[in-house]
Amino acid sequence: MTGCPVSPRPPKPEARPDRVSLLRYLRLFRRDILSAQPQRLYRAWMAEFRTPFFRSYMCNQPELVDLVLKQRPDDFPKSERISEGLRPLLGNSVFLTNGEVWKRQRRIIDPAFEGGRLRDTFPAMWQAGQAAVARLQGLATGEAVEVEAHTSHAAADVIFRTLFSIPIEHEVAAEVFDQFREHQRTQPVLNLGAFVPLPRWFPRFHRRRTKQTARVIRQLITQLTTDRMLAIRAGEAPDDLATKIMTTADPETGARFDTEEMVDQVAIFFLAGHETSASALAWALYLLALYPDWQDRVADEAAVLASPVQPEFSVVKTLRVSRDVFRETLRLYPPVPMMVRENTCPEQLRDRSAPAGSQIVLSPWHLHRHERLWDRPDEFDPTRFETENGKSGLRDAYMPFSGGQRVCTGAGFAMVEGPLILSQLVRAYRFEVVTEKPPVPVAHLTVRGGDGIWLRFTKR
Ligand code: HEM
Repeated sequence: MTGCPVSPRPPKPEARPDRVSLLRYLRLFRRDILSAQPQRLYRAWMAEFRTPFFRSYMCNQPELVDLVLKQRPDDFPKSERISEGLRPLLGNSVFLTNGEVWKRQRRIIDPAFEGGRLRDTFPAMWQAGQAAVARLQGLATGEAVEVEAHTSHAAADVIFRTLFSIPIEHEVAAEVFDQFREHQRTQPVLNLGAFVPLPRWFPRFHRRRTKQTARVIRQLITQLTTDRMLAIRAGEAPDDLATKIMTTADPETGARFDTEEMVDQVAIFFLAGHETSASALAWALYLLALYPDWQDRVADEAAVLASPVQPEFSVVKTLRVSRDVFRETLRLYPPVPMMVRENTCPEQLRDRSAPAGSQIVLSPWHLHRHERLWDRPDEFDPTRFETENGKSGLRDAYMPFSGGQRVCTGAGFAMVEGPLILSQLVRAYRFEVVTEKPPVPVAHLTVRGGDGIWLRFTKR
């Protein structure tokens, strides 16, 4: 039988049956948060999960998301249950703190990520992209290659070059990267702690290996930070993000980060800055392999990068197709699939009363594919943002970087880095899907392919 060619669908995990026992739910959850959820969450405005020890509420209605992130964010601080698992590595980092400490930390960090500074970080991002192209050269044989490992490498390189002016080949940088991969193997699921129905008094055990890798990573970062402090004092420090953050005084108190607090921040820049971008880049490459017409358009546009001279920052503005592809990738595969807050006061959320201390779950994963908010939510269409539906979606139902005062500090940075490196890679190579190994999205620390993301690629 012949018929019209069917356009492929971007992979989406199977939802679980609507009703399952708590035990089954926890088992599914332990395997993967995404497939543990029922189909109805793609249509629901909110959902309640009751466990013996606490309740959690998933809020998908744009008004509720707005309430939590923008209208009264101080009444919905970050959940302690989530933070616990990350503390050995991240200490008192801006990702975990709340209240006045968090506000002070953001006052010191935010200036380093402002527009003008992005221009200064551009050469380091460009060089990391070129290094990634060079690293892939030997692999461009048409054999199947797992690309997440390579996008991870590239994104870690971006962080070290922009933060400390060192490439990933630097001895300490390479060691942090390796240790970090080991750390993830010991603690694969970020959000698990939030949903496991244990009472607060129940002692939490960080696995010994998790603590050990966290300790090694922190020692290495301490070395980088201490050396940098000495260089700053000697007037010999390079003008990069680390120097900027370490020399910025809080405009309200005049205080700067001491070495310990800076180590906490470097740990989160490394974690939040490389895992997320790596995930988005790998999915973007996969989608371009699935939709070769879009890949050709990105490659055509990337011809502006052909000059042997390093381009100016302004080139980023011309990479519009790449930006739309990257933006649509972040909609379909938001690297941070869910975020958890805790309400400090009792709240009325639609027709439900949430007692103080409930877990409030915001889910970019579900919001970005919400059937009542997006036209053809599961389809890949980078032009959608030009339509009325796409514009309202961007405003009300799109939050890959969260929103409000706790919005990702690296959002602007990531929106330069992602499209740029995507264009650099696609200019150099043609990517094709490996039909036998389609990736199934699962939520580990970020949204990853269950068995990685496999592609074949050849030189253009
Ligand atoms: C595609 C790339 C990225 C995505 C999708 C992303 C996403 C996010 C999201 C959703 C949050 C909020 C998490 C929550 O509230 O629970 C966040 C926070 C954060 N991100 Fe990113 N991020 C990306 C890249 C980066 C980069 C490149 C950096 C730094 C170099 C960075 C640094 C941070 C920090 C420091 C926070 C904590 C902010 C706070 O709590 O005040 N991120 N990110």
